[in-house]
Amino acid sequence: MPGLLLGAAIGLAVYILIYFNFIKGPKCKSERSLKGKTVVITGANTGIGKMTALDLAQRGARVILACRNKERAETAVYDIRKESGNREVLFMKLDLASLASIRAFAALFMDSEPRLDILINNAGVCEGDKTVDGYNLIFGVNHLGHFLLTQLLLERLKHCAPSRIVIVASSAYCNGRINFENLNSLPGGWIQDYCNSKLANVLHARELASKLEGTNVTCYAVHPGFVNTELFRNLSPWRKLLLYCIAGLFFRNCTDGAQTLIHCAVQEGIELYSGRYFSDCRAQEVRPHARDDGVAKKLWEVSEHLVDLAG
Ligand SMILES: NC(=O)c1ccc[n+]([C@@H]2O[C@H](COP(=O)([O-])OP(=O)(O)OC[C@H]3O[C@@H](n4cnc5c(N)ncnc54)[C@H](OP(=O)(O)O)[C@@H]3O)[C@@H](O)[C@H]2O)c1
Ligand SMILES: *[C@@H]1O[C@H](CO)[C@@H](O)[C@H](O)[C@H]1NC(C)=O
Ligand SMILES: *[C@@H]1O[C@H](CO)[C@@H](O)[C@H](O)[C@H]1NC(C)=O
Repeated sequence: MPGLLLGAAIGLAVYILIYFNFIKGPKCKSERSLKGKTVVITGANTGIGKMTALDLAQRGARVILACRNKERAETAVYDIRKESGNREVLFMKLDLASLASIRAFAALFMDSEPRLDILINNAGVCEGDKTVDGYNLIFGVNHLGHFLLTQLLLERLKHCAPSRIVIVASSAYCNGRINFENLNSLPGGWIQDYCNSKLANVLHARELASKLEGTNVTCYAVHPGFVNTELFRNLSPWRKLLLYCIAGLFFRNCTDGAQTLIHCAVQEGIELYSGRYFSDCRAQEVRPHARDDGVAKKLWEVSEHLVDLAG
């Protein structure tokens, strides 16, 4: 019996050590105020996005939650207003699985909001079928929809420069590949599709940064860490149970998972890292396939065609 207790105590100590050294991750150190600034954050009704929105609201920003579900978003607006004491937290309808919805959001935004200082492309899915326009849902929401959104809001970001775009990617990019013959309906299952879409996010940030050179608009790709969110809510019960057990023990909570997004949104002096990939609040080197400028450029051009922006 004492042996068992000792074992359990050692196990707990090791777990706590691992938690604080490897899981929790560093906090964003900047205390910058965002009074007078406007932020748009997609998929901010839950998870990493919601905790990021809360932090930016606490800094005094006007925060627009761009979400697809009104009820869920209004609940988040209520929570964030209450916790931050900031009344300027608003919901605007955006469904990234529909190009028409993205255009409607952008038109309304450009008409009604004079500023845009920080755009955070956070929404993401890891399973599903097709978008309204017939694209692979994971690719369509995680990359294409955000690509169009960013292009439609760019003028306002340039006008408010220095301004920033944060693209939430994932270390899953490592296993991603871009197959131009089959971008629209990537086979290979949800994991492969997810990895591919996150590689597209990293390449998007890279090409966007080079297009934005000299504008004082900068952009960053972010890996938030492994975070215990609702991302896996629609998986089959067995997969979900497995992920819940692992996530509960070994993933960051959403406050900690938001830190690198917040860092890239507010930290002073990171502008020279525009286009780079951040994890644990610092720029990290990505694997060669994620810094291939030829692929990044081609992905940009193909994306322009797919969302009907090519002139
Ligand atoms: N959790 C992790 O371990 C992890 C690791 C690496 C990267 N990431 C990335 O972090 C980002 C945030 O994910 P999370 O973990 O916080 O997941 P989450 O809790 O599932 O939140 C995802 C958000 O995206 C929204 N969304 C999904 N489809 C949408 C659409 N068509 N239009 C508009 N919004 C849509 C969801 O809205 P609804 O509530 O209406 O569904 C939700 O607000 C994602 O880009 C994800 O890939 C997460
Ligand atoms: C960018 O910022 C620098 C330093 O604040 C400024 O001198 C320059 O004019 C700005 N450029 C543009 C295009 O806004
Ligand atoms: C997450 O954990 C940190 C400590 O690591 C704690 O301060 C914070 O309140 C937690 N956030 C949530 C949403 O549980």
